[in-house]
Amino acid sequence: MLCVLVFSLLLNIIHSVFAIPAHLSEPAVKHEWPDIPVGWERHSVPSADHLIDLKIGLKQHRIDELIDTLYEVSDPFHSKYGQHLSRLEVEKLVAPHPSTIEVINTWLHSHGIHHEEAVAWNSAGDWISLRIPLAKVESMLSTKYHTFRHKTTNELAVRTLSYSLPRHLHSHIDIVQPTTMFDRMRKMQVTSHVNPPDDTISDISLVADVTGPAGQNISASCNRTITPTCLMQLYRTEGYVPQAAKRGNRIGINGFLEQFINFADLQTFFKMFRPDAIGANVTVLSVNGGLNDQSIPGVEANLDNQYTVGLTFPTPNIYYTTPGTAPTINDSVTPPQRDEPYIDWLNFVLSHDDMPQVFTTSYGGDEQTFPKDFAIRACNMFAQLGARGASVMFSSGDGGVGAGTCETNDGTNRTIFQPVFPATCPFVTGVGATFNIAPERGIGFSQGGFSVYFPRPSFQNQVVPPFLRKLGKTYAGLFNPAGRAVPDVSAQGEGFQVVVGGKVESVGGTSASSPTFAGIVTLLNDARIARGKPTLGFLNPLLYSIGKPGFTDILLGNNPGCGTPGFNASAGWDAVTGLGTPDFVGLRALVV
Ligand SMILES: *[C@@H]1O[C@H](CO)[C@@H](O)[C@H](O)[C@H]1NC(C)=O
Ligand SMILES: *[C@@H]1O[C@H](CO)[C@@H](O)[C@H](O)[C@H]1NC(C)=O
Ligand SMILES: *[C@@H]1O[C@H](CO)[C@@H](O)[C@H](O)[C@H]1NC(C)=O
Ligand SMILES: *[C@@H]1O[C@H](CO)[C@@H](O)[C@H](O)[C@H]1NC(C)=O
Ligand SMILES: *[C@@H]1O[C@H](CO)[C@@H](O)[C@H](O)[C@H]1NC(C)=O
Ligand SMILES: *[C@@H]1O[C@H](CO)[C@@H](O)[C@H](O)[C@H]1NC(C)=O
Repeated sequence: MLCVLVFSLLLNIIHSVFAIPAHLSEPAVKHEWPDIPVGWERHSVPSADHLIDLKIGLKQHRIDELIDTLYEVSDPFHSKYGQHLSRLEVEKLVAPHPSTIEVINTWLHSHGIHHEEAVAWNSAGDWISLRIPLAKVESMLSTKYHTFRHKTTNELAVRTLSYSLPRHLHSHIDIVQPTTMFDRMRKMQVTSHVNPPDDTISDISLVADVTGPAGQNISASCNRTITPTCLMQLYRTEGYVPQAAKRGNRIGINGFLEQFINFADLQTFFKMFRPDAIGANVTVLSVNGGLNDQSIPGVEANLDNQYTVGLTFPTPNIYYTTPGTAPTINDSVTPPQRDEPYIDWLNFVLSHDDMPQVFTTSYGGDEQTFPKDFAIRACNMFAQLGARGASVMFSSGDGGVGAGTCETNDGTNRTIFQPVFPATCPFVTGVGATFNIAPERGIGFSQGGFSVYFPRPSFQNQVVPPFLRKLGKTYAGLFNPAGRAVPDVSAQGEGFQVVVGGKVESVGGTSASSPTFAGIVTLLNDARIARGKPTLGFLNPLLYSIGKPGFTDILLGNNPGCGTPGFNASAGWDAVTGLGTPDFVGLRALVV
């Protein structure tokens, strides 16, 4: 008894000697940029009482265990394959350590913030948010904010080039937002490829079919213009009747940047291209007040939704509308702070017990424009989705090996290839683009390459080294050969017939490819649910092992960018088309 008492007394003494009170710990830089990020310029000084929605991502105590578990439940050779976790099981693994909560509370108190009144914690306890005046944020983060303007879009953002935290907090806080994130989330939609409608679609029946890679008949028009029927023929879902639409199977489509799905356009699309689906609808879920204004039909939103329903009808489709960092042309005021749409959306979805088993997102930005700590934290949240049993698809990007100048923003201004995040996160499936049929070819804009932030995951160890050996010394120094390689897979991405504002437009981009691949995965889940099996969840370990023969290897095409001809599509995995395009019949035989 006495012994225990002395011991705990001793611990208290040690604790008080070594635990540095908040006000004694020196601020140290948490993240900074060497220069104003490319494309932005200083605009004005925001007012001190401007309110900031500050979000603080606390260290997730058992995140390594979560990732180990993710790999176990996603590895088709592991005994735990398919044993996905519940919301509470995931939250237990990502909850911060009690000591983290203690030091955070002490820090907030030292700034006069008492968490009972002012601070909201999410249900896992790994995010806190507080709405406080800019001047207070500046003192907490030992920094000065500025209003920056994007030179071409006029977008305004209240940000800082550097922020600091007391040194003892660095091991307890992953990220603080908004601070140094200047990413301009982009739609992966090639607007220059919006063509007038093609008259060949009315002549389909006059032209002989083309024979596809599995001997199937494909309408010759699909070589130039894509409809749901083309994708069903090419990827062989034609004739498959979904069986689990009323047994919980669902697909989620992500929308940002004020992209709104138009209900009348959806019905027009069905009339033209999927008559059996007339009357079907998409459920719209608003995240943080996201709208769905029927007077502004979005090309991206309509593309994503028309093609997921077009492929998966009658499976329920859910459209998430999250306010994003949309361009604002208003130079006279500071725009409202709607800063981190990925994390807002992730926190929303992860807070629900129930979620769709497939997600597709056609947005992204150059990896280097995301602070590394931010990218890692968001990636770990995609891992949480995977652990819950969701497959997460992202467009790989529309810039070939890199759009624009390809200069690094680390102060050295070197030229390097620029892969797109979130596709570079190993826990999502990055989808590149193809065009033409018989044979399909990788398309020039299909973004691919190697992450700088994320090392190559083990599931890529069989297929990526042979690609690098073929490449030899070509492009040495322009990319990180030890990085996570993208894309994982690909699908058609050119000439999609989309109804927008009552008219058919022809739209391209990896924006089209991701919903297409996600639609195929949804049908594979349908077949699994119908057999009483769990859904596929995090796909990559499966795709790179037993799933590989279920792809059509794409052998043609390259993806120019950064002043180079880019990589070549070639036998096996390549950095233009990944493992290739899906063959539903083949994949179903392998995974169901
Ligand atoms: C393709 O179409 C031709 C002509 O209609 C038909 O004879 C043939 O059986 C079809 N092939 C397949 C694999 O469906
Ligand atoms: C498809 O179009 C390409 C040109 O984009 C052409 O070279 C090819 O012959 C066409 N293939 C078929 C099967 O029509
Ligand atoms: C689809 O849902 C929206 C929103 O609930 C509704 O306004 C629209 O009329 C529905 N369309 C059909 C065809 O049911
Ligand atoms: C800019 O914002 C101000 C204040 O909210 C508003 O009065 C004005 O109409 C806006 N101007 C434009 C062009 O949107
Ligand atoms: C890099 O580019 C920026 C902006 O163009 C310039 O301000 C800076 O001096 C350059 N740095 C080097 C090392 O060339
Ligand atoms: C791509 O293929 C072309 C033609 O075979 C070849 O000249 C070029 O070196 C290849 N490029 C790369 C990066 O492999």
